[in-house]
Amino acid sequence: MNNDDLHTIIEMAVRAPSVHNTQPWRYSGHSDKRGNVDAIDVFADRDRSLGVVDPFGRELHISCGAAIEFAELATRSLGRQCTVRLLPDPGDPDHLARIEIGDEKSPTDEEVALAQSVPLRYTERDRFDDRPVPPELVRALRQSGTTVGTWIRVLDQPGDEVTTAVLLAHADDLERVNLEYEHELANWTQKEPGAGDGIPASALPSTPVESRGSSFRLRDFEQTTPGPAVPPPSGGDPPSPEHPLMIVLGTDGDDPQAWLMAGRALGRVLLRAAADGVYASPMTQVLEVSSTRAMLAGQLDLVGHPQMLLRMGYGHGHPTSPRRAVDDVLST
Ligand SMILES: Cc1cc2nc3c(=O)[nH]c(=O)nc-3n(C[C@H](O)[C@H](O)[C@H](O)COP(=O)(O)O)c2cc1C
Repeated sequence: MNNDDLHTIIEMAVRAPSVHNTQPWRYSGHSDKRGNVDAIDVFADRDRSLGVVDPFGRELHISCGAAIEFAELATRSLGRQCTVRLLPDPGDPDHLARIEIGDEKSPTDEEVALAQSVPLRYTERDRFDDRPVPPELVRALRQSGTTVGTWIRVLDQPGDEVTTAVLLAHADDLERVNLEYEHELANWTQKEPGAGDGIPASALPSTPVESRGSSFRLRDFEQTTPGPAVPPPSGGDPPSPEHPLMIVLGTDGDDPQAWLMAGRALGRVLLRAAADGVYASPMTQVLEVSSTRAMLAGQLDLVGHPQMLLRMGYGHGHPTSPRRAVDDVLST
């Protein structure tokens, strides 16, 4: 593989979702004696970690896991086999993966479809269409997220949604009254124009979070003063409630390896959905507060550890969150 292919792969990898669009990754190309790229190393960039919401780096690993999945898919879509080894160096916890490039092999139709979804996928924070996600797609999403060590739980049992909504709102309230949380959020939402990271205003709907008809507390990226969530203004008709597909993605373990696997599963689920016009907004406040994370696992009877909570449905937006340039994240 040549350097142009490597560039193409990293261009696709950086399109992966990441918490607060921190893009906490670095890549390095490895070449054989003849100068052909034969492996790609993925490293954590801990300078971009979120000390307040993610002190153990769980979400950093999930973000990088999604990028690893996108890189693998990009490699396959270029007609090369590849093998991904997670945490290949026991002495270096920042070395998250080595992607070994193999022989030529035509991509499958599914690999092509998922690769084509990479530039289309985005985080939808506005309300979804009323049309439900069809059962066949729900089954396909379950399949995409289920591997040895990862699972998907659709919130379709009586009481699931109420339990989740209450715990999510509680976690969100706890986060919002923390001044350090507010500062960290401001660091990633008030970037200079042209910055290649963070959450730009264009990625946020013009309606405030309270008026989007979501029964689930969406993260308020426009919070300017700390304090509990403000109730919607009284008077006028309340927004009609939406009925998104809600899923929890979880893992058997709860360590860096499991978090990377969760990120890879997340990447597959989001691309499978986007290939059918369905988008997601993660709502991870409930998983960032350890007490609500434990309560969610207990009250939903989850066997294992919840890693992502996704609200999914048909959206009308398009990608607007910036990415850092490939040359800023890739060394050869
Ligand atoms: C681990 C993780 C946690 C996230 N948590 C949230 C969240 O709580 N609320 C939200 O609106 N988006 C959340 N996101 C989505 C990111 O903000 C989003 O991926 C990033 O801003 C890039 O935008 P894009 O997905 O549109 O490309 C999360 C993403 C990841 C990977």
